[in-house]
Amino acid sequence: MYPTNWKSFSLKFSTFYFNLNPNCGLYLPHLLYNTIYTFIKLFLCIICHFDLEFIKISVKTMTKIEFKPIGTIHSPFKDLDGMPIQPVGARGIKGEIKLNKKYKDGLKDLEGFSHIILIYFFHLSSGYSLEVKPFLDTEKRGIFATRAPKRPNPIGVSVVRLEKIEGTKIYISDVDIVDDTPLLDIKPYIPNFDKHDDDDIKIGWFENKHHKAVEKKSDRRFLD
Ligand SMILES: C[S@@+](CC[C@H](N)C(=O)[O-])C[C@H]1O[C@@H](n2cnc3c(N)ncnc32)[C@H](O)[C@@H]1O
Repeated sequence: MYPTNWKSFSLKFSTFYFNLNPNCGLYLPHLLYNTIYTFIKLFLCIICHFDLEFIKISVKTMTKIEFKPIGTIHSPFKDLDGMPIQPVGARGIKGEIKLNKKYKDGLKDLEGFSHIILIYFFHLSSGYSLEVKPFLDTEKRGIFATRAPKRPNPIGVSVVRLEKIEGTKIYISDVDIVDDTPLLDIKPYIPNFDKHDDDDIKIGWFENKHHKAVEKKSDRRFLD
């Protein structure tokens, strides 16, 4: 129907500019259709500028946040059952962080700190209850008054000892984290920032129980 050279031009043009499947069949109508379609898209992009602004505003109110792990935490703990429940119960237990190589420069100056705060994803947790029986209690407590791993946003925080850094490997101890846990962030631990010496510090239901975290091991209560 079309001269061969025109047909092949139309085919090449539509394939190159519109990333079309060259086996579509109708060449000239196809080309026209896609030209019009592209202009309409361009036009919509311009008039939708206000919509883009709206999207930016929606992002500020954030209904969904996406994080990418910066590395992986390794520890001797392969099972969630029977492991320490806080760093205080994991004294001397060694682990290591394998940081994604692209973040290597971010480790500059970190070796000057004896302790670091690890923020990580409780990747083996699923679902949550707003009231749970924590490891250190027999009574139900509101999830936000506990350190339980099964929470609406399953994020864990542990202050661990920094042993040494070699390249992108960070050697740590006092690890209460299961092997292969995705790491979200590292921050230096600065007691002057994080510790409060105020006389009126209250530790709620942990008052007569926190010391048990030295001996207490996890069990299966958060595994279902
Ligand atoms: C009570 S949480 C406390 C963790 C952290 N220190 C905190 O306060 O956020 C520690 C327990 O979480 C569980 N756990 C550790 N790593 C986990 C992971 N990656 N996914 C799910 N559960 C994890 C283990 O049972 C461990 O004993």
